[in-house]
Amino acid sequence: MKCDQQFVPGKIILCGEYAVVFGYPGIAMPSSWGITVTIQEEGARAIESTGHRFDQPWLDYTSEILNQIERKSGRSVKGKIIIDNQLPLGRGLGSSTALIIALCRAVLGLNCRETALEIESHFNPYHSGLDFAVIWEGKPVYYQKGKKMVSIELPDDLLKDTFLVDTGKPFELTKDLVTRVKEREKQLKKPLEIIGGCADRLLEGEDLLTLFKEHHRAQKKLGVVPPYVDEFIKEIEQAGGAAKVVGAGGRDGGGGMLLAVNSPEEVFIGCDYWLI
Ligand code: PMV
Repeated sequence: MKCDQQFVPGKIILCGEYAVVFGYPGIAMPSSWGITVTIQEEGARAIESTGHRFDQPWLDYTSEILNQIERKSGRSVKGKIIIDNQLPLGRGLGSSTALIIALCRAVLGLNCRETALEIESHFNPYHSGLDFAVIWEGKPVYYQKGKKMVSIELPDDLLKDTFLVDTGKPFELTKDLVTRVKEREKQLKKPLEIIGGCADRLLEGEDLLTLFKEHHRAQKKLGVVPPYVDEFIKEIEQAGGAAKVVGAGGRDGGGGMLLAVNSPEEVFIGCDYWLI
């Protein structure tokens, strides 16, 4: 019996959301949470999930990824596929990309970058490649579309006392939000420039408090921060901190995860939150 196990992290985008789609740089790091896939190649295909369990849409998404792997590799994927998932799903932490990479590696081995990237592009046609780069590498990256990805070291204390705070699941899919921003690229040039300028400022040592405040205001102008999440960020700022939405965000539902710096913990009471 073959039994493959692959842990793949999620990701936390420190800066650059949406701007990376248009060629500006962004910085992201792997999360300590991730997805581990184990395949026991016996019997018919059956998918099981543990940890943050998959609901039917995620089970269907898993089946579609496996079908893509079969189509592209010519191999049939059989047996029990066990997915141990610690990533909150659909919250901007890269769960969909991590699942593609974890399944590809479990079925095809480590040398499957091209196939995994093709499958990522199949499901998320306008992606910048930032999620894929950081999750594939499992290291912090400075990423600019069309250029060689640079693996970077972040200062050890950069995210000291930094929290991830769950503001709820966005109603919209990333690809639809990206399409909307693409349609308004010209009108949104200024906020995209501000977001796209943050990566170099971060590497030059500018403090996250200032950076996140500007980043957040620019994300808001893109229309990807739901009003109540903006109100919540105002409270965080009034308490002396700063926060930004991590990942694609949303419009009418939740905003996914917030990355909050320098904020007293009391502000998060009533939410799910974690110290990084
Ligand atoms: O899908 P998410 O929430 O991981 O967001 C990805 C970040 C975007 O910049 C919005 C899209 C992209 O492909 O870079």
